This record gives sequence, structure tokens and C-alpha cells, in this order.
Amino acid sequence: MKATIAVLPGDGIGPEVVSHATRLLSVIADRYGHEFQFREGMIGGIAIDETGDPLPPETVAICEAADAVLLGAVGGPKWSDPTASVQPERGLLGLRQHFGLFANLRPVKTYPALLEHAPLRPDLLQDVDILFVRELVSGIYFGERKEQADGDDSYDTMSYSRGEVEQVTNVAFRAAQGRRKKLCSVDKANVLASMRLWRRTVVEVHEEYDDVELEHLLVDAATMHLLTRPGSFDVIVAGNMFGDILSDEASVLAGSLGMLPSASLRSDQFGLYEPVHGTAPDIAGQNKANPIGMFLSAAMLLRYSLRLEREAAAIESAIDAVLDEGLRTADIAGSGENAVSTDDFAAAVIAKL
Ligand code: IPM
Ligand code: MG
Repeated sequence: MKATIAVLPGDGIGPEVVSHATRLLSVIADRYGHEFQFREGMIGGIAIDETGDPLPPETVAICEAADAVLLGAVGGPKWSDPTASVQPERGLLGLRQHFGLFANLRPVKTYPALLEHAPLRPDLLQDVDILFVRELVSGIYFGERKEQADGDDSYDTMSYSRGEVEQVTNVAFRAAQGRRKKLCSVDKANVLASMRLWRRTVVEVHEEYDDVELEHLLVDAATMHLLTRPGSFDVIVAGNMFGDILSDEASVLAGSLGMLPSASLRSDQFGLYEPVHGTAPDIAGQNKANPIGMFLSAAMLLRYSLRLEREAAAIESAIDAVLDEGLRTADIAGSGENAVSTDDFAAAVIAKL
């Protein structure tokens, strides 16, 4: 098949992992007889430096003309002055909003090869396989806001409409139907009005999915259950901010934030694919970053936007095989174990293909 992929490397380790991902996708294209055209655009801090805008119109145009978007990460200390008028993160949020990418899928699973060095007891981590479905274009991230560069009060508003909760919850229920048929909805219905609407709506939507078992957890309790009984979760649906927080917490289950991919989707096949990790300024430019989150995001792009399941699965098995052979980047190497570079790890995965 022919496909156009917008490539937005961004900042920090973004460009390093993205360049390996485009190489990986080119190898997939050769091997399976596809033609992928990559078109690169600027986003985040680098785009602020070059154009003053974290999401330049050319970048939006490149994405609009593409079948899917592959993104590295945005942000960094250079642009994190709290009094700055524009943040790199605005580029990413703007992209999610512009394309209406309301459903953010963040799968988290444990790798048998990594259990030994996990910060949690290995027996707790056996068979952990969770899919987070995070609402991505509403909630407190996009509610009414008051911000004064030098004022004494500011606010953000958490708001949800019934329709917004319905559409993301439908995605979550359908995903659960294709998995182990369990959905956990996370909210703060004991305190927040928007979250009471969330819970009511989830209960209503559940009526169409009576083969799925539904559980509700308050977000504070959820943070604890995620660590004490991670194996009991199948699909977890949450609003924008709670989903953001819980997915970082859940990365501990996988061994490192560097392991997690994500897909941001709407109702058609278009999607934005990015690792859950950020720009990791502390290791940027040092050839140390873990490319797995980025590679698995590329696999999700193949699966969801291009419907190339066999190719997606080939990437996932190649990663498994390289981990089984003992190769580790620094973030997942045990103390005393030799870590390999980003380049070497990526080359090993690509060689498996
Ligand atoms: C994420 C990130 C972003 C978010 C930031 C970079 C805006 O933390 O994708 O999880 O908060 O959504
Ligand atoms: Mg986050």
C-alpha cells in the first residue's frame, strides 16, 4: 500500500528516537512491499525557536495531507520559564485539538525478560496487560482558563459534556469487548460535578455493552489499586488529566516510561502516534534513550491507521526477541548490567525484521 506519514521529531530525545522509527518503517515497507512517504514538520520548542509558534501552520498542513502522524516529544528546560507567553506543549495540545483526537490509547504490559529488575514484586507483575483509554481533547486541559502573566490569581476549569464522555467511553467498551471484557472507569465523582456526569454517562453507555464487566474507581484509590493489583485490570478509561497521571504511574509496571507507546485517535483511521515519554533533556543527544516506546508507537500506526496488523505484530515480536536476548538500554538495565546505546538497540530490532 501507499501511505504518507507526517513526521514531527520535536525536542530533546524526540529526533533521536524518531529517526530510528522512520528507518524501522522503511524496512517494513521494503520487506512487505509498501510505499511510505515521510514528510517532516516542526513542532514544540524547536518550532518556537524557528518561527515563534509551537505549531506552525505548515506543520498542520503536512499533517492534514498525511494518513497518520508520528511524533517524538516536545518541551525542555530551555522553554520552561513559567512566565513565557507560549509553551512548546501548546504545539502538541493544539495538534490533538485541531484533529479532534479524542481517544488516547496507552497500552501497558510487563515483559517477562524485565521482571527481575522491576521495582515491584515480580509476582504482582505477572501477566499485567492494561489498555488505558484517556480522553484527550477536553476536561481540565481545555476548559475555560484565566491566566495572567503577573496576576495573583488564575484558574483552570474541568468540564465535560455528555457527548464527550460517551464517545471516549464507547471506544473503551469496544476495546474491552475485544479483550478480557472488563472496564474500569476512573473519576472523582465524590467531589467534582464534571466527574459525577462522567460516572452517570459511563453507567448509561454500559447498557449497550452488557457483556463487559464495569467497575468504578475514584482516582486516588485507582493510583493504589494500580500498584497492588495491576494484573486485575483490562481496560481503564479516564479523563484527560487523570489519564495523564495514571499512565505515567503505570509505566513503572512496564519497567520504564521509555517502553510505552500511544495512539491518539478519532472516529476514522487518521491518528497521531507518539511515545508516552517526554523529551528527557537529561539524556538528550547522548544516544542513551530507549527507542521501544517510539517503535511500539510506529507499530500502532501500522495497526490503526494503515490496518497493517501483520507488520505491526512483526515489530512487536522483534522487540520481544531483542529483549529476550538480553539487550537493554540504560533505563531498563539492572545495576551492573551493560547497557547498549539507542543506535545499537534500534539496529538489533531492525535486524530482526
Ligand atoms: C503526555 C504529556 C503531555 C500531556 C504534555 C507534554 C502536554 O504529558 O502526552 O502524557 O500532558 O498530555
Ligand atoms: Mg503525560
